[in-house]
Amino acid sequence: MEQHNNSSLLKNYNRLPIEFVKGEGAFLFDTKGKKYLDFLSGIAVTSFGHAHPQLTKAVHDQVDKIWHTSNLFEISLQEQVAQKLTEQSKLAKVFFCNSGTEANEAAIKFARKFGKGKSTIITALGGFHGRTMGSLSASAQYKLWQGFFPLTPGFTHVPYDDIAAINDSINSDTVAIMIEPIQGENGVIVPSKDYLKKLRAICDANDLLLIIDEVQTGIGRTGKYFAYQWTEIKPDIVTIAKGIANGLPLGAVICSEKVAEVIQPGDHGSTFGGNPVSLAAALAVTELLTDDVLNKIQQLGESLLTGIKNLQLEKVTDVRGCGLMIGVEFDASIQVKDLMKELLENGVVTGTSGNNTLRLLPPFVINQKEIDLFLLTLSKVVDKFRKAEVKQLQSVQ
Ligand SMILES: Cc1ncc(COP(=O)(O)O)c(C=O)c1O
Repeated sequence: MEQHNNSSLLKNYNRLPIEFVKGEGAFLFDTKGKKYLDFLSGIAVTSFGHAHPQLTKAVHDQVDKIWHTSNLFEISLQEQVAQKLTEQSKLAKVFFCNSGTEANEAAIKFARKFGKGKSTIITALGGFHGRTMGSLSASAQYKLWQGFFPLTPGFTHVPYDDIAAINDSINSDTVAIMIEPIQGENGVIVPSKDYLKKLRAICDANDLLLIIDEVQTGIGRTGKYFAYQWTEIKPDIVTIAKGIANGLPLGAVICSEKVAEVIQPGDHGSTFGGNPVSLAAALAVTELLTDDVLNKIQQLGESLLTGIKNLQLEKVTDVRGCGLMIGVEFDASIQVKDLMKELLENGVVTGTSGNNTLRLLPPFVINQKEIDLFLLTLSKVVDKFRKAEVKQLQSVQ
């Protein structure tokens, strides 16, 4: 599988030489008509699959009516989606933008405005909050920072899932803790069960805001509307993007009344943020994401997780996740990027993240038959790697 080099595009992506030109439910089709099972969903974006009739109709209808008016005027679709998001989160107000990084930039600004001079935000090592300078500075991964110094000041980084480290790092300038409920880009790292609860208690005791980055985990991905709802906490700010409009660009910040109160006209904005077409898709997504669907995500996730564990693949060192967000970690004898490419050759689209981890983010519309197809392909591909290793070892004996 070779990448072509004669492109006019910047080299910032390591693209694979496949173009998907059509999608139907949990399946994708490339230019040659080859069919693939989509277990990546455009990195947790197309949660209701491809060409979902309800979503397609909602977007078509909106495109026929109006595309853009600007936030200088009322946009009732924003009101409708915001109402759904505040109902589900039990928070008060919503700001719409276009992406996850923008949602986090806005959250950082809102926290600083709230802090009235206090500015430091504690974030976790290995975390990922986006690529723009504020969100990048919040994302404590040296490999992302390299070449882009100086970073935005005002962030302290502590190990993930380490309460003592958080306590130690709080000072008189601390205004918030910003955290992913599961670290997606770092290899689907699931923290201890009571981590968020303890963070909430620390925030309450020290008058800090708790910002939960649900860009990847939110909008049903883990089997709850928001992943923080697996514990009984209420954050002050929640950021979302990815799955909210099933592939159209949309991000949002959902905040509590006390945060909302400090934001005044002119404090923040976005030309495209909350455009009617993305909002039409988002409204349809919120209509599709019922309690029944959330339960189904939990069941399918459990079935996939157990299915992978039951394969008892020799090379697998850990299988973890929540709902339809699953990481399969491999030992060093398998390069997970090669495994992902081999799965692709075998008609299954997956991703990689963190430490040699295969990342699975299938759409919510998958069924048991498709899970079985994935499991069969995974075991076949891992077996091929195992046999190749044995052959190589024999050749050097
Ligand atoms: C947790 C989290 N936050 C923020 C982002 C950035 O989102 P975007 O790529 O839409 O800017 C991502 C993207 O992967 C993410 O996983």
